[in-house]
Amino acid sequence: MSIKRSLTSVPLKLSTLLMLFFLMLGTQVFAANPEVSDSEEAIAAGKSIFNANCKTCHKLDQKSVGPALRGVTDRRSIDWTKKFIRNSQALIASGDAQAVAIYNEFNQLVMPNHEFLSDDDLMNLLAYVEYGDKADAAVASAGGEGSVAAGGAGIPSEYLTIILAVLVIVLLLILIVLGLIISILTKYLKTQPLDEADQEFINQKSDFKKVFRSDAFVIIITALVVALVVKTALDELYTIGVQQGYAPKQPIAFSHQLHAGQYEIPCQYCHTGVEIGKSANIPSANICMNCHMHIQNVGGKDGISPEIAKIYAAVDENKPIEWVRVHNLPDLSYFNHAQHVAVGGVECQTCHGPIEEMEVVYQHSTLTMGWCIDCHRQTSIRTEGNEYYDKLVQLHSGSKNALKVKDIGGLECAKCHY
Ligand code: HEC
Ligand code: HEC
Ligand code: HEC
Ligand code: HEC
Ligand code: HEC
Ligand code: HEC
Repeated sequence: MSIKRSLTSVPLKLSTLLMLFFLMLGTQVFAANPEVSDSEEAIAAGKSIFNANCKTCHKLDQKSVGPALRGVTDRRSIDWTKKFIRNSQALIASGDAQAVAIYNEFNQLVMPNHEFLSDDDLMNLLAYVEYGDKADAAVASAGGEGSVAAGGAGIPSEYLTIILAVLVIVLLLILIVLGLIISILTKYLKTQPLDEADQEFINQKSDFKKVFRSDAFVIIITALVVALVVKTALDELYTIGVQQGYAPKQPIAFSHQLHAGQYEIPCQYCHTGVEIGKSANIPSANICMNCHMHIQNVGGKDGISPEIAKIYAAVDENKPIEWVRVHNLPDLSYFNHAQHVAVGGVECQTCHGPIEEMEVVYQHSTLTMGWCIDCHRQTSIRTEGNEYYDKLVQLHSGSKNALKVKDIGGLECAKCHY
């Protein structure tokens, strides 16, 4: 009896101990250096410095190009961390063991200097790094920075097709069921004693051959076939010169899946024009060298990868890499990235598809005039926080519908044609 009781209490005691242990461990892991402030202002100030200078290579809770930063003030002294951020190479050159170790661990990738950051800046940065909201990582990886989903209003055309197809199938099913009911009823009636007129009526009803041979039926079928052929021909005509799916081989096997997907390097780091100008820009070899000066191979292998050697050659010979253009509008049309990305808040993926999953970039959308116009009809403009639109919004306040791009002239020929 007593043996039994003591036995059952063993797991109980063990689990309490385990819980205590984990509680202690938990507080240990999450305790940052007490010198680091956890005030809201410090965290907010630190976040903007982080986003402007560090986000390209660091995430708080996950390894990226550089190490995950949360908990850094726990594993290093504040003084060391400040020195490393301001000028990591100086610290490494001084032979500091910790600095040399992390440098080697990251394939001797040189972190840029940040001498311009004041002491206060650095303390705010550390506040963000230690206490910045943890949901942040998820938001950043979803790519959503206050951007408005485009094409939210209206039913997309793919859905319309699906709905139509479903309706047709339902109609056919109803017809089949009705046919079945008729045939069952006829069979039943045939077993009943009926007078001659009724008999004739039943037999005539089930004679389908007549229907197939009737003029009306032939005309309907011919009309359907003609309509189908015409529609296919028109669709073909509209898509002449459309390069959807075009994925040329590039001179260097550059992977967006690796850079923009796995390492989450922001699009703007390479496509620098996207928020400020007409063209998105393709990065020069110098931008590649920011990182590839030190990353010469994948996974820390020795030697230089032949693909990366091509970047070195381009820089040495001072010759641009000859990337093959994927997206190309004809000269008669005008398209501006800043207008769509910075003002309109349209995400790259809405027009370019899941670039961050592409080993080789392909053209996701048709880039036809109809494509531009469809979106301008359906998409609401982003008016909040844009003084330019305040008057327009007031004028429009009587209407129930949101302001669409078409309402600000998005369908005028001259807006898109020179
Ligand atoms: C171009 C990429 C890049 C940028 C930008 C960058 N870092 Fe780093 N960082 C690294 C790499 C890579 C390492 C690993 C050490 C090394 O290779 O020098 C590192 C290491 C660190 C470390 C040491 C972490 C540890 O566990 O010891 C700290 C702290 C740090 N970075 C903070 C920052 C801060 C703060 C900023 C922005 C002000 C920043 N980094 C910007 C790439 C970068
Ligand atoms: C590390 C640099 C880098 C990053 C980060 C990057 N790109 Fe690129 N991108 C390139 C290079 C180089 C090319 C040209 C070679 C190619 O087409 O693959 C390119 C090509 C493209 C093209 C095709 C351009 C054309 O020729 O029409 C699109 C679209 C594009 N990138 C979108 C994006 C988007 C969206 C992101 C973010 C999710 C992104 N890129 C992130 C370097 C980058
Ligand atoms: C912000 C840093 C960064 C920039 C900028 C950058 N890369 Fe990379 N690149 C990386 C990282 C990280 C890897 C993967 C290394 C690993 O997995 O060990 C990589 C890998 C590669 C590889 C694969 C090498 C192989 O052997 O398979 C190629 C090719 C490459 N990059 C080309 C480019 C080109 C071209 C550019 C400029 C348009 C560029 N990279 C810009 C960080 C960068
Ligand atoms: C509203 C649709 C749309 C959005 C949003 C958009 N693009 Fe584009 N992009 C285009 C079109 C259209 C072209 C072809 C432009 C041309 O040929 O003049 C293009 C071309 C490009 C090119 C080739 C070089 C150039 O500038 O012509 C790159 C690179 C590119 N886009 C990157 C991006 C990135 C990165 C983003 C997000 C920050 C983005 N795009 C957002 C429609 C869009
Ligand atoms: C995914 C949706 C989308 C697609 C596709 C798109 N646009 Fe737009 N476009 C917008 C939005 C949103 C705005 C409004 C931006 C603003 O608030 O000024 C806009 C605005 C414009 C404007 C300025 C209109 C004005 O009256 O100020 C022009 C010009 C334009 N787009 C051209 C094009 C061209 C050319 C294409 C096709 C190659 C295209 N757009 C494709 C969403 C789109
Ligand atoms: C929202 C932008 C936009 C507006 C508004 C617009 N277009 Fe276009 N248009 C384009 C684009 C982009 C192309 C090139 C697409 C292609 O070649 O498939 C084009 C192509 C054309 C072409 C050449 C077709 C071909 O096959 O080469 C003609 C003609 C044309 N547009 C006339 C007009 C007229 C007329 C209007 C005014 C009623 C107009 N467009 C309004 C964007 C626009």
